[in-house]
Amino acid sequence: MVEQRANTLESVAMNPSFWKNKKVFVTGHTGFKGAWLSAWLRLWEAELLGFSLAPPTKKNLYTLIKPKKGIQSVLGDVRNLKSLSASMRRFKPEIVIHMAAQSLVKKSYEDPLTTYQTNVMGTANLLEAIRDTKSVRSVVVVTSDKCYDENAGAKNGHLENDPMGGTDPYSSSKGCAELVVKSYRAAFFGSGTSKKHAAAIATARAGNVIGGGDWAENRLVPDAIRSFWGQKEMIIRNPNAIRPWQHVLEPLSGYLLLAEKLYRDGAPYAQGWNFGPKPSDAKPVSWVADRLMQLWGEGAQWKKDGAFHPKETHILKLNCSKSMSRLGWKPKMNLELALSWVVEWSRAYQDGASMDRVTEDQIKQYLKLK
Ligand SMILES: NC(=O)c1ccc[n+]([C@@H]2O[C@H](COP(=O)([O-])OP(=O)(O)OC[C@H]3O[C@@H](n4cnc5c(N)ncnc54)[C@H](O)[C@@H]3O)[C@@H](O)[C@H]2O)c1
Repeated sequence: MVEQRANTLESVAMNPSFWKNKKVFVTGHTGFKGAWLSAWLRLWEAELLGFSLAPPTKKNLYTLIKPKKGIQSVLGDVRNLKSLSASMRRFKPEIVIHMAAQSLVKKSYEDPLTTYQTNVMGTANLLEAIRDTKSVRSVVVVTSDKCYDENAGAKNGHLENDPMGGTDPYSSSKGCAELVVKSYRAAFFGSGTSKKHAAAIATARAGNVIGGGDWAENRLVPDAIRSFWGQKEMIIRNPNAIRPWQHVLEPLSGYLLLAEKLYRDGAPYAQGWNFGPKPSDAKPVSWVADRLMQLWGEGAQWKKDGAFHPKETHILKLNCSKSMSRLGWKPKMNLELALSWVVEWSRAYQDGASMDRVTEDQIKQYLKLK
């Protein structure tokens, strides 16, 4: 494994004992982040119910590392309030982490309606289901760094109170989801009149994540790994676009810290939170492609694709000082280390290793980072 120099700021140690036997309702558990989060929560012995459509890709991390026990899995649609609400009421969770989404920018141009129905109405349905389930105390709704109006604050990194926006359907659906949460929180949640539900609800905004086990189409790192496995030249759409890259375990650690704070202290944490990488890890696509090629070694190469591609926000930076000072969260991995873990995971998969063990080992390794 690539070594990394210790960071100067200490992050808050995570608290496995808090999660032991906690009832956690996770939407999107069959997706990339959801499969990693479920593996993490199983390691900490939480009681999990996952609610999602089937995995979005034929090959996927969820199926690869699915345990025989330790998680109840419901294949359901967040656009269907009745089934979502029934699953939640039956399970009686204390904590809800909402990650189910149409998560791809390109697909949002092809099918904007499904994107809005899933990401906006799916979030409204989730909040309605929570209103109907008194056991819920803590809710983290995962949106995206793309929720922000790109003209606001982008130079020094978006702050949580920047206006929402988004000029492609995916980004604006995430901005809309943020607004839905804000208004539901004010109207129906928190202490106050007897009509209010006591759950504390926050939103979490992170950038492009990378990690082993992502088979999504049109994402740089999965596309790269697929071409390395197939010994094909990798095709790159926008080599100069700068993205805030981070390992999937970084925002997940933020979601878990936030969920715990919401559970323990409620209202002061019921707001939006950024979980981005260090500013120095906002790098051009071409830099990431070059570094991946070096880490993979022989046979790996890339070229630019000449075709037209729909507009994507050019530079996205998050200012994470609030999460660092108030939650004690901070990015622990640099991009170099994150890429090396992706390559290590993908090589292990290629070699037929037991991937639930490899995945769990990386989580344990992450927990040791300072
Ligand atoms: N991966 C990233 O780089 C990234 C960056 C920023 C934000 N996010 C957000 O994080 C969350 C998880 O992302 P991911 O990369 O794991 O996405 P993913 O596409 O791998 O997984 C999405 C999950 O949502 C489920 N889903 C989709 N439509 C659904 C529906 N109608 N009802 C129920 N379930 C449905 C899928 O089955 C899957 O489990 C999403 O909200 C995404 O927008 C991801």
